[in-house]
Amino acid sequence: MNAQTQPSFPPSEDTVSRAHIDARGYADMYAASISDPDGFWAEHGKRVDWIKPFSKVKNTSFEPGNIDIQWFEDGTLNVSANCIDRHLETRGDQTAIIWEPDDPSTQDAKHITYRELHSSVCKMANVLEELGIRKGDRVVIYLPMIPEAAYAMLACARIGAIHSIVFAGFSPDALGARVNGCDAKLVITADYAPRGGRETPLKSNTDAALLHCKDSVKCLVVKRTGGQTTWTDRDYDYGEMMLEASDYCAPAEMSAEDPLFILYTSGSTGQPKGVVHTSGGYLVYAAMTHEYVFDYHDGDVFWCTADVGWVTGHSYIVYGPLANGATTIMFEGVPTYPDAGRFWEVCAKHKVNQFYTAPTAIRALMGAGNDWVEKHDLSNLRLLGSVGEPINPEAWTWYNDVVGKGNCPIVDTFWQTETGGHMLTPLPGATTLKPGAAQQPFFGVQPVVLDPQSGVEIDGNGIEGVLCMRDSWPGQMRTVWGDHERFEKTYFSDYKGYYFSGDGCRRDEDGDYWITGRVDDVINVSGHRMGTAEVESALVAHAKVAEAAVVGYPHDVKGQGIYAYVTLMGSEAPSDELRKELEVWVRTEIGPIAKPDLIQWAPGLPKTRSGKIMRRILRKIAEDDFGSLGDTSTLADPSVVDDLIDNRMNRR
Ligand code: WT7
Repeated sequence: MNAQTQPSFPPSEDTVSRAHIDARGYADMYAASISDPDGFWAEHGKRVDWIKPFSKVKNTSFEPGNIDIQWFEDGTLNVSANCIDRHLETRGDQTAIIWEPDDPSTQDAKHITYRELHSSVCKMANVLEELGIRKGDRVVIYLPMIPEAAYAMLACARIGAIHSIVFAGFSPDALGARVNGCDAKLVITADYAPRGGRETPLKSNTDAALLHCKDSVKCLVVKRTGGQTTWTDRDYDYGEMMLEASDYCAPAEMSAEDPLFILYTSGSTGQPKGVVHTSGGYLVYAAMTHEYVFDYHDGDVFWCTADVGWVTGHSYIVYGPLANGATTIMFEGVPTYPDAGRFWEVCAKHKVNQFYTAPTAIRALMGAGNDWVEKHDLSNLRLLGSVGEPINPEAWTWYNDVVGKGNCPIVDTFWQTETGGHMLTPLPGATTLKPGAAQQPFFGVQPVVLDPQSGVEIDGNGIEGVLCMRDSWPGQMRTVWGDHERFEKTYFSDYKGYYFSGDGCRRDEDGDYWITGRVDDVINVSGHRMGTAEVESALVAHAKVAEAAVVGYPHDVKGQGIYAYVTLMGSEAPSDELRKELEVWVRTEIGPIAKPDLIQWAPGLPKTRSGKIMRRILRKIAEDDFGSLGDTSTLADPSVVDDLIDNRMNRR
């Protein structure tokens, strides 16, 4: 689209007058953040309470062989004290967390004040200590979206343990791999996770996972539903231990660069990697982005609909909002249960001011019709956010018109598990919005667009290439847990001297950034990142599968769907039963989010003579784009392509 036809939405006077930052303010502050990062972050580093103030600010190197990232390195702090204790005097009785249950007809929302949060987190910290957890130990959290998930995160932070949350939708195998991956001493789980009216048996999943882990791993069990579970020697009852625990636990003094959490995320190769975030820089960045990007003001009610199993939940349900003394909503359910009005009912009930969700949810709710929105009073909404994938203009427009009534700026925030917080985003009082664009860098972020082949920076506007960052920002991940070499190889080796995001990007005539999607073998399914290699290895682990190749394809609601080409063992015949069997197999190997949306039987896969699968061709076929397959003459057997196309056509 050219600049003339591109719709754009300047901030309203109302928005500008309320906002922390206007266009001029953004330009000045951004310039300062780049010309003098030390001065800028020394100032903004003060937004957290330090036990021992830092004297050094930025100490970072993207130099090959010496990737080293440290911020505020000689400062000490405690993240939980920053999220709780420092607010007690001024807002002890203010609600910190509003918990909204899966089923509103059987349970009421809970309002947890900062004082109550303090007491629960202290108790849980004491429970952890009693279970032998010490500074630096790893604790895996495998919980539903219940307040105990936040208590567990903050209790770890309080005693200096490192948490690693595993999304409750992951399978026992995926859980076990993560427990072993970070050598966790303890898993915190619940009996069951209610979601959308169904219950996932988390405790029995954990039992199955721990069969493959060290005997010494303990398990702390929260009773969410009180449903039937088996009990083993390694299990401890959270409810009972909390009754005995003292409600005071002194926060540990941690170094700014002590790890706060590990979060496993998928990449283009191999097993998921443990992204490590540390304490000081991460908290400064999460809190600052939360305040400026969402234009958060004291007294606002903020709702991020993500799960704490993803980084979005870490930064924008727990750490960012609580560091800012906000009221943050924790929602256990799904957008369409009990009905497609659930999000809007919750917004109305709790008078939500800022609402942050994913395009996939917006598309699903758009499909359900406007009545569901219009029944509810959304007059408190002031700002809408989007995250996880590019938002298509239709969904943007619906979000803007029907949900926001044309009065709520939409912030389309581009970031990653690795970045800790927003990287490219509009600021509500400063940016003229363009539907579908992530627009402008946050303070301290230096995006560059490189030529994918030469790795040279492309200057000027109206250009496209791969998105990299020229320098570090405080929220950046520090390493891959236990594998610093992999950190360097994944993010700093394709384009030397830069952090490589893995995304393609366009910079338009005005200098606004548009994310064009991943350029590696990572796909984005409903805003969840999935490595195609992971799904492939799950498929080939099945006895009847000889070979598999997985690509993404456009999906109306999910953004991308999972398209699997499967070659069966010689003796096996394709059938609908086998298709189902493979779907169930992948669900149990990884989790429901990895289930292929389409499986195509492939007698052969297109390969080069050296045996490399030509994914480009498979992507085109999956997209029904048969006209531009490019040169297939270098294939070992070009006829397999015709075969795949015929089969694809027959399926529609
Ligand atoms: C990938 C990161 C951290 C947010 C949740 C996903 C894609 C994320 C946007 C956006 C276009 C986006 C990118 C990125 N992505 N937000 N606003 N516009 N694309 O975190 O699982 O680490 O995935 O999600 O492709 O690389 P994640």
